[in-house]
Amino acid sequence: MATIKKIDPQITNLKSDENLLKYFTSDFRKGYIEVTNKKFVLPQYYLEFMDKIENFEVYDTDVFVVSHPKTGTTWTQEMVWCIGNNLKFTNVEIYKRFPFLEVTPLFDFRECPELFGELSDHLLDSLEYVRKLPHPRYIKTHLPWDLLPKQIRTGERNPKIIYVYRNPKDTSVSYYYHCRAVEGFTGDFNVFMDLFLGGRLTYGPFPAHVLSIFEQKNRENVLIITYEEMKSDLRSVIKNVMNFLSKNYSDEEIEKLEDHLSFESMKNNNSVNYANTGGKNFMRAGIVGSYKNDMTPELINRFDNWIVDKFGKTEIKF
Ligand code: A3P
Repeated sequence: MATIKKIDPQITNLKSDENLLKYFTSDFRKGYIEVTNKKFVLPQYYLEFMDKIENFEVYDTDVFVVSHPKTGTTWTQEMVWCIGNNLKFTNVEIYKRFPFLEVTPLFDFRECPELFGELSDHLLDSLEYVRKLPHPRYIKTHLPWDLLPKQIRTGERNPKIIYVYRNPKDTSVSYYYHCRAVEGFTGDFNVFMDLFLGGRLTYGPFPAHVLSIFEQKNRENVLIITYEEMKSDLRSVIKNVMNFLSKNYSDEEIEKLEDHLSFESMKNNNSVNYANTGGKNFMRAGIVGSYKNDMTPELINRFDNWIVDKFGKTEIKF
């Protein structure tokens, strides 16, 4: 525990009467913890990897996509991958070429041996898998700034960090469907929204996550983009990322990339749609404002007040 305390003394095991435990009933989650004074929620199993993540060796040539879940991470990854790799579209699954750093700490499969046989290398030990990637490495993480490897936070290493975020109403709805499909959530929509607004879901609180990166926005190695900008003007975001990664492509090439990144194209692309890994509805709606189909006017109002409360005094507008 000594090294964990170095990050923050405040690691709390969440009580068993939490709705989080009550409604997330999978065998691969035995409990949850809160980490740092911002109370980021993570599965308890994460504790076993915390030290390794803190001390994970990072290189200046690494490229990270960082995000809260369901904000357009995969879309951003595919864009970043293509831009970084001379627009070479590939059939290799994204989780192999652009793996999720802490996916193993999220799912403790030791209690579900029947699943082991089906697990690939990156799931069995994602940190080790990432460590051994060919350079430059492309790495996905949902960790907030405060929990990124120490070498990044201290500036000892300056990998490229692209952070994507999305309006919390669409994010929460997308997260709800995701948690029902993949993370064993058995509660109803309203319970989930209470957990989201209360900052009680894995990787929450959402405001603390977004703000943790905004506090670092002046670092030269940090670029912040939004899902909404990608929807309204993908070309500009592509150019921004090209610039950030010191790449240059013709208008014609950019147009091809735009087509490749369209929702329809990605929905039908097995290398990014997680169709083969149980993420059946991963490419779900793919629009801005889909929350209107799921939220009552009262809930929308609650979210709007919450946004004013959490972001009103910041530069972040939704
Ligand atoms: P919805 O559930 O609202 O449809 P993440 O990759 O962070 O898990 O985010 C998943 C969300 O991004 C899903 O949102 C998914 O449909 C959306 N998405 C993925 N690829 C997209 C694309 N090419 N265009 C628009 N939305 C996309």
